[in-house]
Amino acid sequence: MRKIIIAGNWKMHKTQAEALEFWQVFNSKLRTKGENKEVVLCAPFTCLSFLAKHLDNTGVLVGAQNIHWEDEGAYTGEVSGGMLTEIGVSYVIVGHSERRQYFADTNETVNFRLLAAQKHGLTPILCIGETKAQRDAEETDNVIINQIKKGIVDVDQNNLVIAYEPIWAIGTGETCEATEANRIIGLIRSQLTNSDVPIQYGGSVNPNNVDEIMTQPEIDGALVGGASLDPVGFARIVNYQ
Ligand code: PGA
Repeated sequence: MRKIIIAGNWKMHKTQAEALEFWQVFNSKLRTKGENKEVVLCAPFTCLSFLAKHLDNTGVLVGAQNIHWEDEGAYTGEVSGGMLTEIGVSYVIVGHSERRQYFADTNETVNFRLLAAQKHGLTPILCIGETKAQRDAEETDNVIINQIKKGIVDVDQNNLVIAYEPIWAIGTGETCEATEANRIIGLIRSQLTNSDVPIQYGGSVNPNNVDEIMTQPEIDGALVGGASLDPVGFARIVNYQ
């Protein structure tokens, strides 16, 4: 059975004090015991160590939002896999569209980061998705196939999560139709040799649309940005029905 993974992507939000406040409320509302479901909080670097200590043995895991492909070196502002695992991080988001758009990540550097994550025993969440212009030009399927093929060169599909995140749906309140997200995720799965890789949907997931999204047979979870900042709302998403 494929694992369900619900991950919050806090992006550049929350100090340690705010993370602690979040956690106290979120933890009191979680209902995941005995379910085939993993919950991950992908926080800014400054919160990771702090969160990992608070979340120890709670079943909720900590994720980073970026990783460099080298173990160390002259790469100002970057963080390596060993630095993340040392402080209790389990997951790392790789290739988020904001990293591709603002920080020049390419399919090739995304692939390097994925390989580095796996080398260090982290589970990478590979983000892929098309722009509005690509969708309007009916290039979506080709863009997705190209991103997946180039992204997963030499990657171990037994330790991988993929998130389909149409860029036009991120932070816009405009969710991709659940059936269309399901279709694209099926297309992604058809490109893999391991059909058990969990594939999430991301892009304006919220407490009101999560139930419908999670009824789709191909969708194995969600990567949630804005709505993961509110502990009550994010708990409702994790406890989807
Ligand atoms: P959103 O972001 O939920 O705010 O649309 C999703 C993401 O960027 O991962």
